[in-house]
Amino acid sequence: MNTAPPRAGSPGPSYQDYLDRDSREVPACLRERAPADFDDTPIEAARYTSQAFFDQEAERLWPRVWQMACREEDIPEVGDVHVYEIVGRSLLVTRTAPDRIRAYHNVCLHRGRKLCDASGHYRQFRCGFHGFTWDLDGRIARLPCRWDFAHLGDEDLTLPEAQVDTWGGFVFINMDLEAPPLAHYLGVLPAHFSVWRLEDRYKAVHVAKRIPCNWKVAQEAFMESFHVIATHPQILGVIADANAQYDVYGDHVNRNLSAFAAPSPHLGRTPPSEEEIARGMLEMYGHPEALDALRRAAPEADARTLVGELNRRALGRADGRDYSQVSDAELLDALVYNVFPNFSPWGGVAPNIVYRWRPDGREVNACVMEVMFLRPVPSGRPRPAPAALHWLGDDEPWASAPELPILGAVIDQDMDNMPAVQAGLVASANGRVQLASYQESRIRHFHRTLDRYLATAP
Ligand code: FES
Ligand SMILES: [Fe+2]
Repeated sequence: MNTAPPRAGSPGPSYQDYLDRDSREVPACLRERAPADFDDTPIEAARYTSQAFFDQEAERLWPRVWQMACREEDIPEVGDVHVYEIVGRSLLVTRTAPDRIRAYHNVCLHRGRKLCDASGHYRQFRCGFHGFTWDLDGRIARLPCRWDFAHLGDEDLTLPEAQVDTWGGFVFINMDLEAPPLAHYLGVLPAHFSVWRLEDRYKAVHVAKRIPCNWKVAQEAFMESFHVIATHPQILGVIADANAQYDVYGDHVNRNLSAFAAPSPHLGRTPPSEEEIARGMLEMYGHPEALDALRRAAPEADARTLVGELNRRALGRADGRDYSQVSDAELLDALVYNVFPNFSPWGGVAPNIVYRWRPDGREVNACVMEVMFLRPVPSGRPRPAPAALHWLGDDEPWASAPELPILGAVIDQDMDNMPAVQAGLVASANGRVQLASYQESRIRHFHRTLDRYLATAP
């Protein structure tokens, strides 16, 4: 692994400097640095606007990558089905036994009607057109007028499958039956998340919304902290934005580590005091009154220690677990991982934010963004049922979702950019996007991997 520091760096403490001052030992994975060393060639604007490029993605990318389809808890019972759709492809992600999940292409083998219109519980898959019916194991169970299909054998009538595997309580599919296994694809991710065990969490929040921009425009707005200065200036007093850390691992994983309860280097030589930073964090949380008691308990503590302790206690009260050894970084910071091509789980402890971006059907200029929160299953209690999906209407801001306190309003600021970015990419005179060498290295990493998939025909 390349452990050299980036070619240039922001003024102010590095993310590793903040970890040095943590009140607890931090997980080893956060101590790593894996900066990219890429050339700085521009990105073509057409990658976000061209229907031909989108069609290449539909043909060469999506059918060959491991992609998160749902949580295991979304389909807890045998016969539970999650319909997963991507660029016009549709899969029935089905629990066929208590410990087995399979994914069938959601297409009738007769004349091609989609078999199931919606997620739900099924005893069999019965096509609504002529009644061909399949068992949960994908074998044909009933075929009206079987005498008229003597030309079809069992293998012609067995539902084609995709690969299925699980990690972290998520179900992944890959339509490429020759693709290497998920564990290989995920690279360092399972090792990094071994301390955060997303499989022991439940989906407490799930909100989705259509966005009028290419799926990559939306995703890339969440891959760097560089935009905080212009898009979220109200949090400059509490986030170390320009001195965040960016790492790339192999083809499919990258991450951004940004310290909260730490000031932006943009605030220059007169950064806020530790008192002001702590107050800013508590105002953001909606609990400014908590500061006095915290300060009385730890008069000398800096903002990260103070607010980390607040979160440590609040989490322990909420779920009965022991957070006494959990670092401030895991309780405070944005530890944002991306798994190529479109899945972004946050590390750290509750709530773990998860993002996913998908094209909206086969529309180059529209996508769907989803936000989930994973929370620890309360100690000694059964796993709570997963949150139902809350679809926001086109005119409903993220802040209108009561289950997204703080984050909803911040995402709405990101949303303001997206249609304007899409329009600007169409209008571009030079047809280029120029990326920062370091702070936008994850975006370049994404495009390099995308190019690898697009370079070869299936
Ligand atoms: S199309 Fe499905 S049974 Fe005819
Ligand atoms: Fe943002």
